[in-house]
Amino acid sequence: MKKSTVLAAVVAVAATATMSYAGMNARTGVNGSFHDMNVVSGTTPDVYGRVCVFCHTPHNAVVTGVDGTERLPLWNKTVSVATYVPYQWATPDNLAAIGAIADPLVGPSRLCVTCHDGSIAVDTHGPATPEVGILKLTGNRAIGIGANLESTHPIGFKYSDAVKRNILADAALGTTAVDEIVPASERFASAVAINEAGYTTVTRNGQRTIGSTLFGGDIMTCATCHEVHNKENVINDLSTDGTTRPNYFLYAKEAGSAICLSCHVK
Ligand code: HEC
Ligand code: HEC
Ligand code: HEC
Ligand code: HEC
Repeated sequence: MKKSTVLAAVVAVAATATMSYAGMNARTGVNGSFHDMNVVSGTTPDVYGRVCVFCHTPHNAVVTGVDGTERLPLWNKTVSVATYVPYQWATPDNLAAIGAIADPLVGPSRLCVTCHDGSIAVDTHGPATPEVGILKLTGNRAIGIGANLESTHPIGFKYSDAVKRNILADAALGTTAVDEIVPASERFASAVAINEAGYTTVTRNGQRTIGSTLFGGDIMTCATCHEVHNKENVINDLSTDGTTRPNYFLYAKEAGSAICLSCHVK
């Protein structure tokens, strides 16, 4: 049993202070996963024991996001209207090619932070048949806490702008291509090995192409690396200490940093 890292108003509510969690099998769906709030809370916070209801509702949903135009997928949770501080490029080349990130939360990322920035209890749902929850995310699982995303991998920018940094092969000069970023048409990495020349080779037979996870086919979001429904993510290898660790809902494995090498040529 793994202890959940959800910390909440549990200090005050002794009954929920020892939330324990049986672990999550990758690719087994939302039910029973870290995204099943009934399991995470250790009780059944929804009176019907529904699972999707913490994020979606068939009726009376929140229709648009913060700017009033972005359509939401039948969302059943208050959406934060705060302006979030985006990641600041460390590499001048990225700033030149991609530019400063205006709204880091474009697309599904804004939905993720409705729970992950720690401001709204994860086991709350509504406006449809509202129920009040108590469990707020803290610690490592709280991403975007204080409406600040400077310490999170850049999101909310165009992947195609990053690809422009790649240098094409020049037949006249007889030079070969120098890629920094993998084209969006490629699949996520399925295996990483060292080739005979001693450099890392990456096999790209993942479930998804990178492009299929980009919002509107181009914008990088939280859902570019994570699969929220625990369906098309990868099954990680057993940790080197022989224990099963969290899977993180990722599209490629952690071993050999296959997830990072899915996009970065390094
Ligand atoms: C923890 C929150 C969460 C839960 C629980 C959840 N979803 Fe979602 N769902 C999302 C987010 C975020 C998106 C939009 C981003 C995406 O598709 O990755 C989404 C998108 C969708 C979509 C539209 C896109 C697509 O994949 O076809 C459908 C349909 C959907 N969810 C159905 C469900 C059903 C059915 C359940 C319950 C079995 C469920 N979801 C549970 C967060 C959730
Ligand atoms: C570029 C890929 C990428 C993007 C984009 C990304 N993540 Fe992650 N995330 C990861 C990886 C990889 C891990 C596994 C942790 C590790 O390897 O250290 C992770 C871990 C996490 C964890 C668990 C942290 C922990 O230490 O337990 C949460 C929660 C999370 N991500 C949420 C988010 C949210 C919310 C967003 C968007 C605001 C996001 N991620 C964007 C790659 C990404
Ligand atoms: C309804 C609230 C809610 C929403 C919406 C939500 N999450 Fe989560 N997420 C949680 C909770 C609760 C956990 C488990 C925390 C724990 O037990 O420590 C979790 C865990 C995670 C983890 C860690 C999984 C692991 O194996 O350690 C990742 C990664 C993650 N979420 C990413 C996302 C991303 C990306 C989105 C949006 C596409 C999202 N979440 C939307 C509530 C939510
Ligand atoms: C889905 C594709 C994708 C995945 C997966 C991914 N990245 Fe990125 N990452 C990008 C893109 C695109 C950029 C912006 C262009 C660049 O820096 O090459 C970026 C930017 C970065 C930067 C910031 C560079 C700067 O100028 O500040 C770092 C560092 C980084 N990634 C490391 C990682 C690590 C480590 C992982 C694995 C945990 C990872 N990335 C996973 C696509 C990805």
